[in-house]
Amino acid sequence: MARKKFTVVGAGNVGATTGYMLAAKELGDVVLIDIVEGLAEGKALDMAQSGGVYPFASAVTGTTNWAATANSDIVIITSGMPRKPGMSRDDLLAKNAEIVKSVTAQVVKNSPQAFIIVVCNPLDAMVYLAAKVSGFAKNKVMGMAGALDSARFAYFISAQLGVSIADVNGVLMGGHGDDMVPLPGFTTVGGIPLTELLSAEKIDKLIERTRKGGIEIVNFLGYSAYYAPAAGAVKMAEAIIKDKKTVMSCCAYCKDEYNIGGAFVGVPVVLGAGGVEKIIELDLSRTERAAFDKSVAHVKQLTAKVDEIIGT
Ligand code: LAC
Repeated sequence: MARKKFTVVGAGNVGATTGYMLAAKELGDVVLIDIVEGLAEGKALDMAQSGGVYPFASAVTGTTNWAATANSDIVIITSGMPRKPGMSRDDLLAKNAEIVKSVTAQVVKNSPQAFIIVVCNPLDAMVYLAAKVSGFAKNKVMGMAGALDSARFAYFISAQLGVSIADVNGVLMGGHGDDMVPLPGFTTVGGIPLTELLSAEKIDKLIERTRKGGIEIVNFLGYSAYYAPAAGAVKMAEAIIKDKKTVMSCCAYCKDEYNIGGAFVGVPVVLGAGGVEKIIELDLSRTERAAFDKSVAHVKQLTAKVDEIIGT
């Protein structure tokens, strides 16, 4: 069986970390591509040489040339402007729309069979754009946000309870923005509902910190997080490549599901060889449903702006 091939677009912090994790986990060969001359080449060479210390069988190459990405199984788009302190994810829309548009056109040309995982912000709007420009089947285009946001929720829960993060299964829906919807009623710790272990007041504090989890890191670093975002993208890629039928949240196309009527938004899904194979419809409480509707409405506003920028 031929090795799988991944293209990671953008050799910045998220892209390079994603490329390294894909290679170190031996999920397949990795091509890093960036428009900045030398950046992808240099990082790929460094990664490939790291295999001389902690060996892996994956090939890692860096390039500025799209031809080298041909016939990738999965393309992970990380390119775009990251957030700076004081910026919301939405502030990046106009700039990143142009970048994601031109990148997606190259994906269509070079890897017409690929799955696309979008990581750049504003996430849900950029997934919509990639789906629209590519014309790919909607189960093949998705966004990494739920994995990251639920990992943040899980981390804060584990720290609060003093338990292993590996035992926390955080569940979360909605857009990748300040109005994302962590779902404590569906979140478990070692199989025990979170609501059995923490008071509503304490849970609310963790939800608030999760919602602001991205900016907390931007404020420390002056730029965006990248280890957890990269880990989220790799988990999705692994689920698809190994047909794991992984249940996790990601930004996926919903039409009749949750009566959304056609939008890419964060929902629990089953990820496998068919990409987004199923959307899991949770029985939300009235408050959860209202929060989700608010988040979806916000995502739809952003996608309308995408249509203004790239034309419908
Ligand atoms: C974050 C950025 C990547 O949430 O959106 O850290």
